[in-house]
Amino acid sequence: MNEVDFTVAIGDKSVMTTATPTLAAIIVAAGSGSRMAQDTPKQFLDLCGKPVLRHSIDAFLSHPMVSELVIVGATDQLSRIDELISTAGPVSGRTKARMQIVSGGARRQDSVRAGLAALAGTDAVLVAIHDAARPFLDHRMIDNLIAALQAGADAALPVMPVVDTLKSVEGEKINGTVDRATLRAAQTPQMFRLDKIKALHDRFRDDEDFTDDISMAEEAGLVIRTIPGEQKLMKLTHKTDFLILDALARQHDEKGDQQPMTAPDIRVGNGFDVHKFSDAPGPIMLAGISVPSDRGMLAHSDGDVGLHALCDAIFGALGDGDIGFHFPPSDPQWQGKDSAHFLAFAVNRCRHHGASLRHLDLTIICETPKITPHRDAMRARIAEITGLPIERIGVKATTSEGLGFTGRGEGIAAQASATVLFGATT
Ligand code: CTP
Ligand code: MG
Repeated sequence: MNEVDFTVAIGDKSVMTTATPTLAAIIVAAGSGSRMAQDTPKQFLDLCGKPVLRHSIDAFLSHPMVSELVIVGATDQLSRIDELISTAGPVSGRTKARMQIVSGGARRQDSVRAGLAALAGTDAVLVAIHDAARPFLDHRMIDNLIAALQAGADAALPVMPVVDTLKSVEGEKINGTVDRATLRAAQTPQMFRLDKIKALHDRFRDDEDFTDDISMAEEAGLVIRTIPGEQKLMKLTHKTDFLILDALARQHDEKGDQQPMTAPDIRVGNGFDVHKFSDAPGPIMLAGISVPSDRGMLAHSDGDVGLHALCDAIFGALGDGDIGFHFPPSDPQWQGKDSAHFLAFAVNRCRHHGASLRHLDLTIICETPKITPHRDAMRARIAEITGLPIERIGVKATTSEGLGFTGRGEGIAAQASATVLFGATT
């Protein structure tokens, strides 16, 4: 699509040049992703380095015709969407579109209607309605849909041929084979004249569950055009769909397509902590277990320098603050607290970010106590707290050859690495 000379003629209206873009977009992202069965709804999981939802936001915002973007989210996820937009950095290309985030409803069609309501008063003539769960949208698809409406259709959608032989089945009994020659699978975005689809959503608001918006246009007898869909526009529904889209994205990358590509998104964080010995006698908590020691540790919590370093390594991999941020030493509730609680919290934050912890490595730096006799008990305890297999946990120790504060036996230092895999593929 040529950005300079583009004009859309719709009915008696001749609208839209690059100076006055009039395409609105609605991304519905208010579903719970129940079939994906993940703690985090699929639209917030990481795919190829960014959250699923962010892919289609970027596609629309960087398209020269898009003047308005409405993102529809579940009421309790609106701040998450806001954060996802504000922390993701600038979108490449044109970024002047007005953006709104609104609350969706129980059914997909309720969410779409909420998105349409947010477009009241807009100049946009066309609207693209898109599932957040179809992240790999590109400009060519948007352009082809606009062209279909420009050619006179009221609505347009991408469709894919059905490849399997289709059976009509009741219980275990086959009623027959369905001729697949005329069958197509519907994708999104689906594009409409805004006034028409808004009227239809109002008309059908109390009707049965429409799983896409074109169904309403069919019901009303609008002129609908299909255009060829794309495999990479498939909807993320089950967990394994992430693997398929990831592989498709790789293939497009190799072909030099515009789709951003992907290596596994593995991030490594590091953590460091120091605690001072006290004059009181031990034992001390170290790497999750009680270790005999002549002297105790001075600390606000239980003083487990090993677990604290591990926590910070995980927070570092997630880009999610540090232990002092999540558990301020000024807060009396952490006084003497078992540091296993902090580590379990850090592992939980991985889930919150759509990531999973893959490995931990800890180095304890001290003259005493000797660590080696306790190494495997420490690994076993860390495995218990984090849920990692013990073979993915390293615990090592070193002295500092009598040098520095550890060498003088004034305290213990620990440093750690954490490896975290983003995405729902595990
Ligand atoms: N959607 C929505 N509001 C709803 C239901 C769905 O905005 N009440 C959105 C989803 O977030 C998704 C798109 O509609 O982007 C397509 O729906 P689907 O793939 O069914 O997603 P979910 O409903 O989240 O998944 P599931 O049906 O497995 O629970
Ligand atoms: Mg659903």
